[in-house]
Amino acid sequence: MDRIKVIGGSRLEGTIPISGAKNATLPLMIASLLTSGTLTLENVPQLADVVQLGRILGNHGVDLAIAGKRPGQSDGHSQTFRLTAHEIVDTLAPYEMVSRMRASFWVLGPLVARMGEAKVSLPGGCAIGTRPVDLHLDALRALGAEIELEGGYVIANAPSGLTGGRITFPKVSVGATHNALMAATLAKGETIIENAAREPEVGDVAECLVKMGARIEGIGTSTLNIQGVDELKGAVHSVLPDRIETGTYAMAVAATGGDVMLDNARADLLEAALDVLREAGVEITVTNSGIRVSRNGAGLKPINVETQPFPGFPTDLQAQLMALMTIADGTSNIRETIFENRFMHVQELARLGAEIDLDGDLARVSGVRKLHGAQVMATDLRASVSLVIAGLVAEGETVINRVYHLDRGFERIEEKLGRCGAQIERLSS
Ligand code: UD1
Repeated sequence: MDRIKVIGGSRLEGTIPISGAKNATLPLMIASLLTSGTLTLENVPQLADVVQLGRILGNHGVDLAIAGKRPGQSDGHSQTFRLTAHEIVDTLAPYEMVSRMRASFWVLGPLVARMGEAKVSLPGGCAIGTRPVDLHLDALRALGAEIELEGGYVIANAPSGLTGGRITFPKVSVGATHNALMAATLAKGETIIENAAREPEVGDVAECLVKMGARIEGIGTSTLNIQGVDELKGAVHSVLPDRIETGTYAMAVAATGGDVMLDNARADLLEAALDVLREAGVEITVTNSGIRVSRNGAGLKPINVETQPFPGFPTDLQAQLMALMTIADGTSNIRETIFENRFMHVQELARLGAEIDLDGDLARVSGVRKLHGAQVMATDLRASVSLVIAGLVAEGETVINRVYHLDRGFERIEEKLGRCGAQIERLSS
């Protein structure tokens, strides 16, 4: 299993190109199940999760052509995917596949919508809490699907197709919104989704669905109104920039007291996180081509933050912010309100010398003068990148084990950081 070695102490300086968003790419790829036409996706990042989802969709009958190069070939640029599901050859999504990536559960809605049936394994993915799927199932029931659970599988049936309905989510769920929205595009009549997730990736998918012929109003708001259509067609769509990657590198730059231009980043996708960084004393300059982040000599002020659904501070940046606050001048309070078990990075950060007290959903982070390199373990996607940030400022050598978590969501991280002066290297085994 690959490991990443970081020698701390270098200031990051230069330019980092921001890739297309993983969390938009995955549901966009899944949207190809809704049409026999070709869905062309541009700005697709090269990530393990994207490759894995390509395989899963292949099982259902989606033909994936990667423009200009072969799968797995890396040339450092974003890819263009052409996804065509002329025919759905299988409505079964087996355990071996879905257990490796939670987002693949989202094939459920599109498959039932197009085929009237689907059998999808209950999901896996990052171990950050229990992560149930009740909201997904209730949403599909509201559209007339009959749902049964059997042997770890969800079996959904709607022999005469889905019908529009009113879905009121008791809690904001990104995945359940994706599932419901995609299913509703092909349901008969009107669907109203209330308390829909407003994450930019949901909006990106909705805009792509509109290009495919879907009728959706309220994009970007918490109420989506969908008028079902008989069929969708192919379209061309460019994936929006990754706000989590943007925020991650912004925090890495802030931690090292560096000065970096985040090319292609869009500030409107992460205002809450940028505000927190400004509050901590980091300089943020928004330009036409991206976001410049710098901290030249100034200390880091502690902050109080609570994770919230968009437009609040994202849970996917909580671990990275915590890594940054381990070296702030004082005590920060970071509350995790989205997932109940998303503090697995705390004990690993402690191995590097961080002082963090956990009290339920609250982490109290007392800034220390220095972190010290150590061997640490990546436990989930965002937690692992928080260890990279900590390693960049820790004295000496930090080795991060189990980096496959990182490869799921961060494109060429060692290359992007290395070009800005980080001493970082992948140790293949
Ligand atoms: C997505 C993101 C993930 C991010 C999360 C929250 C992708 C591929 N993943 O995950 O990176 O951390 O949004 O922004 O886009 N819940 C239920 N019942 C359900 C579904 C969810 O109780 O049926 C709960 C979850 O346990 C969690 C909360 O709702 O506490 C939010 O989860 P959700 O927004 O659904 O996360 P994902 O879509 O899995």
